[in-house]
Amino acid sequence: MEADVTMDKLVSLCKRRGFVFQSSEIYGGLSSAWDYGPLGIELKNRIQSFWWREMTQLHDNIVGLDASILMHPRVWEASGHVENFTDPLVDCKRCKLRFRADQIPEENLEKLECPKCGGQLTEPRNFNLMFKTHIGPVEDDGSAVFLRPETAQGIYVNFRNVLQSSRQKIPFGIAQVGKVFRNEITTKNFTFRTCEFEQMEMQYFIHPSEDLKWFDFWKQTRIDYYEKLGIRSGKLRFHRHSADELAHYCRDAYDIQYEYPFGWQELEGIHNRTDYDLKRHSDYSGKDLSYLDEVSRERYIPYIIETSVGLTRTVLIVLLDAYDEEQVEGEKRVVLRLHPRLAPVTVGVFPLVKKDGLADMAREIAQSLKEEFTTFYDQGGAIGRRYRRQDEIGTPFCVTVDYQTKEDNTVTVRFRDSMEQTRIRVDELAACIDSGVKAYERVGQ
Ligand code: GAP
Repeated sequence: MEADVTMDKLVSLCKRRGFVFQSSEIYGGLSSAWDYGPLGIELKNRIQSFWWREMTQLHDNIVGLDASILMHPRVWEASGHVENFTDPLVDCKRCKLRFRADQIPEENLEKLECPKCGGQLTEPRNFNLMFKTHIGPVEDDGSAVFLRPETAQGIYVNFRNVLQSSRQKIPFGIAQVGKVFRNEITTKNFTFRTCEFEQMEMQYFIHPSEDLKWFDFWKQTRIDYYEKLGIRSGKLRFHRHSADELAHYCRDAYDIQYEYPFGWQELEGIHNRTDYDLKRHSDYSGKDLSYLDEVSRERYIPYIIETSVGLTRTVLIVLLDAYDEEQVEGEKRVVLRLHPRLAPVTVGVFPLVKKDGLADMAREIAQSLKEEFTTFYDQGGAIGRRYRRQDEIGTPFCVTVDYQTKEDNTVTVRFRDSMEQTRIRVDELAACIDSGVKAYERVGQ
């Protein structure tokens, strides 16, 4: 039976099993920054590769890019971030806490009363969310640069380079994954909102007359993607931005929201950015960023449909969505029902006992499976406990070598979700696991 996951349960599992640790924990931690441990980085890498495959390799007309974090400061003037990328903040004069004005109860804002200590709040002031630093040894205005707050701008300023070097024709896309930084007031929701995170963004360049068609296409494609990732469809929905939610560069925007333990919140944004970005960069740089259609001879500034999702936020929803607890023979079983493509370990291999040559046989099998799958060998403790340890990190298949293996070269394969066990010949093991990964379907929506 499915159990409700809480943030506390997930945070505890993540720390216990090495998915996510608090940054600089031995110094008391740095709020809103997190480190990904041995299993966390495996999961994060798999999600990133999955996104990359879905958003570039499966499309002839989408190419990749890896732009730098530091860019010319004029980029952020052109993009509108210097002027508009702000949050209205209030400070408590007594307890010194800082809040986003739009995130405290209205009555507190009206009375300018601190929601924590009742002290007096300052009037809301707009703070820019970009981190500013200096390049080179002199810290003057001329050396100021920003840590990028989105990867998108690296794509826009390379539009001409990519167009000329890859000989793409509109419509085509450029995809990028990378670190971004925002000086956010973060809430207590684990990795949901952090100051440093990774985005996976794709910018699709189109003819202006086709914006509705491509906007609908990418909305559908992106929601379908989460099903492939093994996320339950009942936990996802669209939210259309109202006029006062729309970012300065957007004509229309939908969020794909996920139902977190703290409510429905944004997972991904799909934006119709029109010709705003290329026009602005054209104006600010003085370079022509128009596109010439060689067949119709029409010259125009392309519109952009953007899909943008946090990699670290995806890790969070994948873990939340996978977390399950059930009673098995009077004991609680914690199981991560991760899609086998994403699980940090694909196969656990165990000898039933260490003696009588079983350990050697199991090691040999583990070694051969490593060629194709992430494999973990474990000979410590009762077999039931070894299964439970793998359930808790989402390992979809466990292989046990026992005395019968010596007689007929078969092993037991145990499936994480159903806990069913079946005997398979060792030479059929890799094919069995491979088809199990490909045929996987999540039970329970
Ligand atoms: N280029 C458009 C853009 O950056 P956004 O809605 O500001 O749009 C896109 O961000 C996605 O990045 C969000 O849907 C979310 O997944 C992720 N994201 C945004 N701010 C974040 C934060 N502080 N911490 C973690 N992820 C964040």
